[in-house]
Amino acid sequence: MSSSTNKRALVTGVTGQDGSYLAELLLDEGYEVFGLVRKSSSPNPWRIAHLEGRLTLLPGDLLDQSSLVRALLESRPHEVYNLAAQSFVPTSFEQPVHTTEVTGVGVLRLLESLRQVAPEARFYQASTSEMFGRVESSPQDERTPFHPRSPYGVAKLYAHWATINAREAYGLFAVSGLLFNHESPRRGDEFVTQKVARGVARIAAGEARELRLGNLDATRDWGHARDYVRAMWLMLQQDEPRDFVIATGRTHSVRELCAAAFARAGLDWREHVTVDASFTRPAEVEELCGDARRARDLLGWRPTVGFEGLVHEMVDAARAPREALR
Ligand code: NAP
Ligand code: GDD
Repeated sequence: MSSSTNKRALVTGVTGQDGSYLAELLLDEGYEVFGLVRKSSSPNPWRIAHLEGRLTLLPGDLLDQSSLVRALLESRPHEVYNLAAQSFVPTSFEQPVHTTEVTGVGVLRLLESLRQVAPEARFYQASTSEMFGRVESSPQDERTPFHPRSPYGVAKLYAHWATINAREAYGLFAVSGLLFNHESPRRGDEFVTQKVARGVARIAAGEARELRLGNLDATRDWGHARDYVRAMWLMLQQDEPRDFVIATGRTHSVRELCAAAFARAGLDWREHVTVDASFTRPAEVEELCGDARRARDLLGWRPTVGFEGLVHEMVDAARAPREALR
């Protein structure tokens, strides 16, 4: 059910997993929603195709500051959600400079544009648990020291501090959400949850026998993307700008992910999963587990989907036609 507000929001990364769920949430809340879309040789609109006619798409790229200024002038947003990034950790080892330009300096371009043409707009930065990296204590909260382990994590840490600096130096309502891994049937194919879910679907359909993975011992705090975009929105509805950790507080290994996903299709993961060293990383984040107490206390935020529910939804969707993703 849509409610009515006179607010406008600009979402970068609208074609990504989180962008699509956030656009849905904002439309449901009665916002006029603008999405920044970059030029690519083959457009990638499948996650937002069902929102056609309800969203206004604006061309722009975090690498091109003038396009960001134009998008801000056209959308005149009350709220800006920066979800755009080169977000795949292994790619950041292969293309560290590109990742830094988009995921790190791109955020500064957007903040500087905002400062020039829309300083009253509230700003959300998609920060990440990857910044904790080689964790110094567990669970991780807003006070845990950072130790990023990839060019992606380093770039995100730069963007995190650029966001805080914009708040402290220029008085922008700019906040950083330190989100732990969140997944859904709209997750990109290369991330481990979707790789496993789609691998299970292919094996269950008799189209493959084997799934090759890297480090099975790594643990992650996995939640559902739909829950996590709600936290982003809540952060921009507060009286004061503050940074928040968003997590479920539960952690599972990649091995446990495999066991749950294969079991959902009546299969034994040990008969199909092969460890392939080519999927291990030059430096790994071995464990992540978040403490979202501040979000629970100040935002009233709680996750609604647990690990099993998430894995079942992803495996079921991977085995169903694409229409099931809506
Ligand atoms: P995603 O699916 O990889 O989406 C990334 C989006 O960024 C896509 O829309 C992509 O556009 C866009 N993009 C990439 N380079 C761009 C550029 N140069 N200019 C403008 N747009 C560009 O990521 P996600 O999972 O939705 O995550 C959203 C954000 O949260 C990202 O910043 C990610 O780093 C961060 N984050 C994610 C998680 C998680 O677990 N999902 C956790 C913490 C933080 P194309 O469609 O054209 O590629
Ligand atoms: N992708 C992938 N593929 N990961 C594998 C594989 C494999 O074949 N085998 C094991 N893994 C392990 C990785 O080594 C890592 O420890 C874990 O599975 C999760 O990997 P990803 O799903 O690729 O996610 P991520 O944790 O590296 O990064 C995601 O979460 C971050 C938040 O902590 C991304 O969404 C980042 O953008 C996000 O910031």
